[in-house]
Amino acid sequence: MDYLKAQSVKSLNGIIKISGAKNASLPLIALTILSSEIVSLKNLPNVADIKTLLKLLSNLGAICKFHEDRVTVDTRSLHETKATYDIVKTMRASILVLGPILARFGHCEVSLPGGCAIGQRPINLHLKALEQMGAKIAIKAGYIEATAPDGLTGCNIIFDKITVTGTANIVMAAALAKGETTITNAAREPEVVQLCEVLSASGIEIEGIGTAILTIKGTAGKLIAIKEFSVIPDRIEAGTYLCAGAITKSQITLTSVEPKHLGAVLAKLEEMGNSFTITDYTITIHPAQEIKPVKIVTQEYPAFPTDMQAQFLTLATQANGVSIIEERLFENRFMHVSELQRMGADITLNGHTATVCGKTKLCGTDVMATDLRASSALVLAALVANGETNIHRIYHLDRGYDSLEKKLGNVGAKIQRLKE
Ligand code: EPU
Repeated sequence: MDYLKAQSVKSLNGIIKISGAKNASLPLIALTILSSEIVSLKNLPNVADIKTLLKLLSNLGAICKFHEDRVTVDTRSLHETKATYDIVKTMRASILVLGPILARFGHCEVSLPGGCAIGQRPINLHLKALEQMGAKIAIKAGYIEATAPDGLTGCNIIFDKITVTGTANIVMAAALAKGETTITNAAREPEVVQLCEVLSASGIEIEGIGTAILTIKGTAGKLIAIKEFSVIPDRIEAGTYLCAGAITKSQITLTSVEPKHLGAVLAKLEEMGNSFTITDYTITIHPAQEIKPVKIVTQEYPAFPTDMQAQFLTLATQANGVSIIEERLFENRFMHVSELQRMGADITLNGHTATVCGKTKLCGTDVMATDLRASSALVLAALVANGETNIHRIYHLDRGYDSLEKKLGNVGAKIQRLKE
């Protein structure tokens, strides 16, 4: 197993190129199941979760090929309809194949994803919506068995709660359903927007893209001619590197980034004392004179993302004063707190709220990554901690960050990947 050994740095300086978004790539790969043609995907990040989903599609009979600058996926030969436990257990987002496989074949089995380090993460809303579209769903021996022998039928779906992968699943199911589906309380995340835009560019009529009400006209089972697209930049990767600049009081420039997707993150960094130079596809962060404390509440897009909570919590340990960080999306997304406390952070947890008293001098030690974003939060802590920090269990980090130690190394960080 790999781990990272990181030293503290005085400051960072340079340019970091942002990769394609993991959470946009995953539904787009699942979307290829609905394609009548070979699909060419550009700007996929080189991360484990993408390989896992491509492996899942290959297991089902698709042909996935890696070229220099793109991946092609041919699902015309896809014939298996069961996503087995061995893959689903490694990546919850495997649930994204449920909607498209069911819509195309009229039946699908997906292993129940089970619990997760950041919370229970049920999928009841995905299943309820598919039932409304006419699917029969049973849970048997740890598997979701869904059937719709006569295809799915469009209807009005009102999500009780905003769900990102739930919206993606139902958008894909609706694209092949009979008639019109309206999704109310749909997720508005840029990753869902891109899924809708690719469908729209492929001839599917979708109204309300980017709003909370989506209306999708289905093809009544006819596959869709999806050709080529390039995945949007990863706003969470970008936010993480902006936090690296902020915590080390450095000037860093991000390229291939979409500043419009980072509104809430940039606003909070500005409140903390940073300033920015922004062009269409670049952001340069200028350091704060003094890092100021902040109040953050995680919410659905366009509000502050839960996927940036851990990184800002680390940054808050270096602010002069008391920061309050409230996690509203996931009930258990504070596992990084105990690791940061071991490094000397002064953090009190009360239910869903963390109170961070800064500024504390952090001390390098051995720490354990507990989930994907918690892992990058520990890397941020290591950049300013006294001495050396060893971050273990970085398979979490590898699920979603493309070459993190290399990208940070290019701007002056001293991080080595070693074997346990
Ligand atoms: N929820 C339900 N029932 C459902 C679905 C969701 O109660 O059927 C609840 C969840 O338990 C949670 C809330 O609704 O409290 C929102 O969950 P959502 O379904 O939106 O999360 P997700 O789709 O499983 C995606 C990202 C996560 C990101 C969340 C929130 C992907 C593959 N994953 O998860 O990303 O944190 O949206 O923005 O897109 C990550 O990349 O590290 C990551 C965890």
